[in-house]
Amino acid sequence: MTMKNIAILTSGGDSPGMNSTIFGAFIACQNNNIRLFGVLNGYDGLIDNKFIEIDYQLLSGRINRGGSILKSGRSKRFLKSNYFKMALSNLKENKIEALIIVGGDGSLKGAMKLRDNGVKVISLPGTIDNDLLFTYTIGFDTATNNIVNAIDNITDSLSSFGYGAVIKIMGNQCTDLIDTVADAIHTDLLVKSKNFDLNMLVKAVKSKNDGNHLPPIVLVLEDSADVEELSALLQEKCKIQFRPHILGYIQRGGTPSAFDRRYGFTAGKASIESILHKKYNCAIGLVGDKLSAKELENCFKY
Ligand code: F6P
Repeated sequence: MTMKNIAILTSGGDSPGMNSTIFGAFIACQNNNIRLFGVLNGYDGLIDNKFIEIDYQLLSGRINRGGSILKSGRSKRFLKSNYFKMALSNLKENKIEALIIVGGDGSLKGAMKLRDNGVKVISLPGTIDNDLLFTYTIGFDTATNNIVNAIDNITDSLSSFGYGAVIKIMGNQCTDLIDTVADAIHTDLLVKSKNFDLNMLVKAVKSKNDGNHLPPIVLVLEDSADVEELSALLQEKCKIQFRPHILGYIQRGGTPSAFDRRYGFTAGKASIESILHKKYNCAIGLVGDKLSAKELENCFKY
């Protein structure tokens, strides 16, 4: 007997390419006469019974946009057994036979909890952090480019005045974003943990202040340092003007790259096809340049 109703939700930090992922799942459902329901607000929508049927109209004009048409969330309630039971009973009431979960490592834990309670799940890696054991996660490529573009803009002004900058980069505990950006903008001035060596950093900045180098750009991972304080300290110790920057949601938003759109679309489609081949309770993502399925347990990088 074939399936009739499948649902999809996006959870955790939104990532560019999530809408293409939903579109891929929708197209595969259309091809197989399955109704695809979207759950709003991540896992909270399961608890609050927020299911909407996905159609072309909902997706129209949104596939090339960042964010998630289903909205996202980091549900604390989902961890509590009374709310979790409500989520399970709403899935049953809506006759959902399988659930696609698009998100990062927190979302993956939620997928495992649902699987352990009899729900058929497929997890897709949607996060800018690249903190899952796939070659890339959906959104990482766009975020990297967003950050590099933002820093290029900042560099125009730094160069004009001979200033340096301290810039806070997202990634949670994963260094993939900051490391990739550092290579792309050619800086080795990195602060990736609270125990960084300030004297070494000052020395490295000074050594580059000879007129023959690019402006000194210090990248800071998340809260490894307070960018305002560090900027002021470097200014004082290196005798160069420094400007602090927190890029914030500029990193996550905007038009998804062609890579992330294609990745999301093909992964979304593959998730439905996998369910139809009775292969579920796994995660599907890129390993090298091919989509591959892995056990949920085997996807955590940390
Ligand atoms: O997981 C994506 C991410 O952007 C992380 O890089 C960052 O630590 C976190 O989300 C920020 O969360 P919020 O947008 O909820 O402040």
